[in-house]
Amino acid sequence: MGKHKLARWTELGSFDKVFQPKISDISSNDHAVKGKWKTEIFKNDNPVILELGCGKGEYSVGLATRFPENNYIGIDIKGARMWRGAKTADERKLPNIAFLRTRIEFINSFFTENEVDEIWITFPDPQLHKERKRLTAPVFLDRYKVLLGPKGILHLKTDDLEFNNYTLKIIGQYRHSLLFSTNDLYHSGFSEDAISIRTYYEMMWLEVGKKICYIKFKLNCT
Ligand SMILES: C[S@@+](CC[C@H](N)C(=O)[O-])C[C@H]1O[C@@H](n2cnc3c(N)ncnc32)[C@H](O)[C@@H]1O
Repeated sequence: MGKHKLARWTELGSFDKVFQPKISDISSNDHAVKGKWKTEIFKNDNPVILELGCGKGEYSVGLATRFPENNYIGIDIKGARMWRGAKTADERKLPNIAFLRTRIEFINSFFTENEVDEIWITFPDPQLHKERKRLTAPVFLDRYKVLLGPKGILHLKTDDLEFNNYTLKIIGQYRHSLLFSTNDLYHSGFSEDAISIRTYYEMMWLEVGKKICYIKFKLNCT
């Protein structure tokens, strides 16, 4: 591992509200934070909003800055990327953001029923050849269902039309509630404040002229 990467890994471990559990801590048990994000981590009763596959954390940090009335948690497996978001959050002294370095497959070890109000999935790897690895595959939506409950909202931003269409197909097939969808977000007239934050990957795709797709939906919990 390079010197820079090592220094970032070390610093990541020093930030307040950064959780990096070992697989052995959660493989057969729930993690100690489960059910305690509001009471013990954020120490308030504000909504809890996740960003899955947060990468460098631009979305989570952007949302936490704009909406101090909510709590945000960026989740990703890659520590060197997450360091960027955690560092910015530390520099801005944001009290309403945390980071969790883990595989999203283990999400139910960290959040209890109805503990989460919204989920953002920002520019996920499309995994076009491995359906079970797609973050909007039924196997993942079943995991989110438990922690979100019927009121919880999911947002997907992607540059990948095939991934977007796959998600729309799953929403229809499983009778989830589609609240909004567009294949061209910035010409759609959709104007919710939260949508305009741009991640590292989004900037990259916009620079090469790609359109951004966006879906907002709720899960069928029956
Ligand atoms: C294409 S990047 C997008 C990063 C960021 N959201 C952005 O828009 O710049 C996808 C991210 O998802 C993370 N990721 C993919 N599958 C994951 C999984 N199963 N568990 C945790 N992180 C995952 C990767 O580590 C990577 O940082």
